[in-house]
Amino acid sequence: MTSSEELHKRRGTAVARGVGSTISSYVHHAGGGTITDVEGREWIDFAAGIAVVNVGNSAPRVVEAVKAQVERFTHTCFMVAPYESYVAVCEQLNALTPGDFDKRSALFNSGAEAVENAVKIARHATGRPAVVVFDHAYHGRTNLTMALTAKNMPYKHRFGPFAGEIYRVPMSYPLRDGGLDGATAAARAIEMVEKQVGAENVAALLIEPIQGEGGFVVPAEGFLPALREWATAAGVVFIADEIQTGFCRTGNWFACEHEGVEPDLITLAKGIAGGLPLAAVTGRAELMDAVHVGGLGGTYGGNPIACAAALAAIETMHELDLSAAARRIGSVMGDRLRAIAARDPRVAEVRGRGAMLAVELVQPGTLVPDPAAAAAVSAACHAAGLLTLTCGTYGNVLRFLPPLVISDDELARGLDILDAAFG
Ligand SMILES: Cc1ncc(COP(=O)(O)O)c(C=O)c1O
Repeated sequence: MTSSEELHKRRGTAVARGVGSTISSYVHHAGGGTITDVEGREWIDFAAGIAVVNVGNSAPRVVEAVKAQVERFTHTCFMVAPYESYVAVCEQLNALTPGDFDKRSALFNSGAEAVENAVKIARHATGRPAVVVFDHAYHGRTNLTMALTAKNMPYKHRFGPFAGEIYRVPMSYPLRDGGLDGATAAARAIEMVEKQVGAENVAALLIEPIQGEGGFVVPAEGFLPALREWATAAGVVFIADEIQTGFCRTGNWFACEHEGVEPDLITLAKGIAGGLPLAAVTGRAELMDAVHVGGLGGTYGGNPIACAAALAAIETMHELDLSAAARRIGSVMGDRLRAIAARDPRVAEVRGRGAMLAVELVQPGTLVPDPAAAAAVSAACHAAGLLTLTCGTYGNVLRFLPPLVISDDELARGLDILDAAFG
């Protein structure tokens, strides 16, 4: 078998440098809570392909469904010759997402594409131009979603000019905003919008209920409900970007449910289809159906193989009760992370929900971010066979996103490696 070193050499002459990788080992196979590289070395997986394989890699139902679909047909384009699985995925999403109202869904290929379409729908339905987003937000790498994303390096640097009519307001970030309560933090953001943009010009407020790339920032309790309430009163479409938080990751089907928030539109991707590329916008029927026929779509959106995978992945989430699994993982992992925090003054905070947890590292006794410490702990984890990711505006957050089917033993082994890496 070709070695990782040889593959890395070939990559250097074939793959664009702008596409990075966390580790330089090359994958041979993966499943449960582990990844095995071409050298036969096993990695405990605390990344899940960035919160994608919630049901695990090559989950049995997903494999069966994909095989069966490939043998029937691979692509007709739903806009040309439709098929049942697309309709069935939309039915499932309409039923699973928060809110007991009439809903419609449309399917796309990637998270960024879903976010772009949610903005299109909100603008079209309201006839308003502006979109309000938050500090530390991440919504993707296309032109519009770069504009919606907060962080310059590496996502936006020298890729402009960006789309217009995007307005950024402060996020509730308890560690870094002096512990402002949710209602006060929301009032601060709303005042900025009303003074600087004008509510009547705002099509949509777009927010991750727990920020992903931005640092697993969990807003103070009450922040999301206060924004939801304002959006309703102002006729602004409340869009929840649940691309990273969705599909059982936080211990519920969707993170908005923790505070009873019902978005008008919700963007979905990542965990939806067990690793196949699929994304969706789901929301109020009157908003979704405001768009003229032909206004939404794309060649591959809702590809039949991805739809078959999604139906199998959703069935697996029900069957294995992966929300409960996420809560169990969160409880075990949270205890270990809090024990590390208690003895290591570089850990300013342990935060997150369910199986979406992180630690933010600072210079001891301050709030000065310490990205070097995050990189060093990550490197030690990687050297010892644990795949972890960093994130955060300051690059100083270690985030943990294991597949929700990880075994107790794999989880414990991963946490032992992490514990030792802090040492
Ligand atoms: C919250 C959020 N929105 C949007 C995206 C973009 O998704 P994709 O990479 O599938 O385009 C991501 C990806 O990390 C995300 O975490």
